[in-house]
Amino acid sequence: MVRDTSVNLAGIRLKNPVVPASGTFGLGPEMAAYYDLGRLGAIALKGTTLEPRFGNPTPRIAECTGGLLNAVGLQNPGIDVLTGETAPKIRALCDTPLIANISGFSVEEYGICCEKADRCPEIDIIEVNISCPNVHNGGMAFGTDPEAAAAVARRARKATGKPLFIKLSPNVSDIVPIARACEDEGADGITLINTLPGMRIDIRRRKPVLANRTGGFSGPALFPVALRFVNQAASACHIPIMGCGGVSSAEEVIEMMMAGATAVQVGSANLKNPFACPEIIDALPSVMEELGIEKLEDIIGIV
Ligand SMILES: Cc1cc2nc3c(=O)[nH]c(=O)nc-3n(C[C@H](O)[C@H](O)[C@H](O)COP(=O)(O)O)c2cc1C
Repeated sequence: MVRDTSVNLAGIRLKNPVVPASGTFGLGPEMAAYYDLGRLGAIALKGTTLEPRFGNPTPRIAECTGGLLNAVGLQNPGIDVLTGETAPKIRALCDTPLIANISGFSVEEYGICCEKADRCPEIDIIEVNISCPNVHNGGMAFGTDPEAAAAVARRARKATGKPLFIKLSPNVSDIVPIARACEDEGADGITLINTLPGMRIDIRRRKPVLANRTGGFSGPALFPVALRFVNQAASACHIPIMGCGGVSSAEEVIEMMMAGATAVQVGSANLKNPFACPEIIDALPSVMEELGIEKLEDIIGIV
């Protein structure tokens, strides 16, 4: 029997739910050296800001048990390069839906970036990141308060008619009011979760491992935490969720979908194994067969 892995994400049909997560897939085009990018459900591009950013001082990565800490600090060439060069380059290679991941340091900056992404024909979905823990006076500050999150969602909604997802932080005690505030402002979906703030110390040097002192924790150990957030948001909202956090297998994609995710982003797994996404996609039909699933969409939010 042919197993149907396709999903409808806010009106866009993805051939499968597997999406490389922003920041873990280079800028995008360089990954075509490994495999056909047309195999992916969608691609979340590297986080972009209005102006180019150099990012944080090094070291920016610390390996940990069960994952890693990063403090890249949104290094990127700016929105005009994303819309004028990166997105057209990927579109020339494949028709996979492209997700622009947008960060800002003010509500207006988010709005201007969303307007530019809206005008870019190669961008299909806009994901507004209000959850980056590695920049000061921006990012996560907007994602930890329902009113601030609503202000960004409102401005982004004004800027674009394209499917709009807001990417939220796990660094909150209750995700429901924040997710609902975004939904109330007209967001078409929620992405959950970004990294969890953390720290490591080099005990020989008696200094933090990361030059930024703290970073965002990601990887396999994040999976149960992410699953809980996805399930809570899916139970409280009526818009689709892109689940993200610690996913590295077809079984975990299915578990995330049972928790309520319509699509599933794969992040740190790409850093360990550049073939992580196609390997998961290849494994999906046999896991579906084992579990008696004909159509992947049937299991979304069944738990
Ligand atoms: C090196 C690195 C860079 C990242 N850059 C971004 C970014 O630019 N924008 C964003 O929204 N999330 C960024 N993230 C967060 C991931 O997209 C994802 O939400 C997080 O890593 C959890 O998923 P994972 O456990 O599968 O990695 C980054 C993560 C890593 C490890």
